[in-house]
This record gives sequence, C-alpha cells and structure tokens, in this order.
Amino acid sequence: MDVKGAITELDNIMDLYEAILKKKLPVKPQNKDFSSVAAKIEGEKAEDKTIQSMLSDIPDDFSQMDLNRLSNYVSTCTRCGLCKTRTNTVFGEGCSNRPKVMVIGEGPGEKEDLTGRPFVGLAGEYLDKWLKAIGLSRETNTYIANVVKCRPPQNRDPKDDEKEACKAFLYQQIALVMPSAILCVGKPASTLMTGKMDATMASLREKLFLFDSSIPMVCTYHPAAVLRNMELRRPVWEDLKRLSSIINPQIRG
Ligand code: URA
Repeated sequence: MDVKGAITELDNIMDLYEAILKKKLPVKPQNKDFSSVAAKIEGEKAEDKTIQSMLSDIPDDFSQMDLNRLSNYVSTCTRCGLCKTRTNTVFGEGCSNRPKVMVIGEGPGEKEDLTGRPFVGLAGEYLDKWLKAIGLSRETNTYIANVVKCRPPQNRDPKDDEKEACKAFLYQQIALVMPSAILCVGKPASTLMTGKMDATMASLREKLFLFDSSIPMVCTYHPAAVLRNMELRRPVWEDLKRLSSIINPQIRG
C-alpha cells in the first residue's frame, strides 16, 4: 500500500470513531471538571519543577502577563539565535480558555514562519484530522502551541539552548490556558515536557504522565513523522484513543 492509501485507511478508521463518538457524547458538550479524572489516573509525574517554581526562576516579569501581552512580548524576543532568521514568531492559537486539550509541537516550519500560525502546513492538516477523529478542533476546544516559537533554519530540531530559552513562555501559556489534558507530538516536545531528555519516543508514548502533578499528558509521534513512516499510524491511533478516553471518560471501554 502506498502512503496515500495508508493515510486514507487511517482516515476511514478515524471517521468511524468520530461517528461513534458523536453518538455517545451529549449533543451539547458539558463543561466538565476534569480534576476528578486526573485524580483517578495513575500517571507518572512529569518534570521535577512545578509551573510556579519554573516561572519564579525567570528574571523577566512576564510571569505576570496575560496571553495577549505574552504573545506581544514573544514577538520581539531575542533570547536565542532563532530570532535572527525568523519571519514571524508563532505563539499559538485555538481555544485559549480551558481547552480540553493543548497540543504541543516542536517548532514552526516554513509555512508557519510565514503566516505566524502553528501547524498550518501538511503536518498541520494531518494533525487536524487526528484531532477531529476524537472530537477536538482548534476552533472549539483545543489550543495548539510549540516548544520553540521561531522556526529553526531548514526545519532542524531545536537545540537545547533554544528550547530552554523558550520553555518559560510555554509554561506560562499552559498556566494561562489551563488545558484539561496535554498531547505532546514528537520527541522535542515529549522529552522537554516529561523532563526525560534521553528517552525514546517509543518509551515515552507508553506512559501516561501528569504534568505539574495534575494535568494528564500523552506523548505520541509527530504528524510529519507519520507522514514519512506509515508504520507509526497504528501506535498514534492507540495514543489518540487513550487521550480520548481521558477527556471523554463516559466512552471508556
Ligand atoms: N511542526 C511543528 O512541530 N509545529 C508546527 O507549528 C508546524 C510543524
């Protein structure tokens, strides 16, 4: 089967799941409090630092900023070398008030750098399909951001100092947006957010983490990696179903 055929096959499975989900979910989504769900989950604690201690480590007073001011601040940031080659910063977009899920990717690609919006290229279209399959979309209940807010040249992986320079912005975004769950896509996001810098993607995706001791967090492969290697479709689908069972506990099993 070629890549197009494989993606279509996955699309069909996802469409089916979306239809089942629509039948099982109440017509009007309820504004659920997910803290009780998080309390029941036996997740591994991610990172040693809490959001608060992380933010208090940072000299600039952006920990006091709201999302708009933080985004403006980031747009003129020169904390690492990526600022020299960017066209636009890519801060994040979507539902910014208690979304069901916050997706964390790696960093902007070419199209994102030109538009200032996250995940708008091919990988982004594919990510939107994943989200749709489990009842999520950036228009309604999902917020999307990246580990680094500026495009790494030639789409290389962000370097450690670049991730560190941008990390506090991401933490502050999480604190302000208050997602019920987090989905990390790809290794840079998964290793940074779990604090397990040497772990493989295969080992990280098997665990459920609790970010800041309270937010359920699932790690999976990056959509661009799945577009390159269709063998990753099934593990991703398993991970999405796991995420779905966390945010929609009424359809578990
Ligand atoms: N890949 C990412 O990780 N993030 C984007 O915004 C686009 C592609």
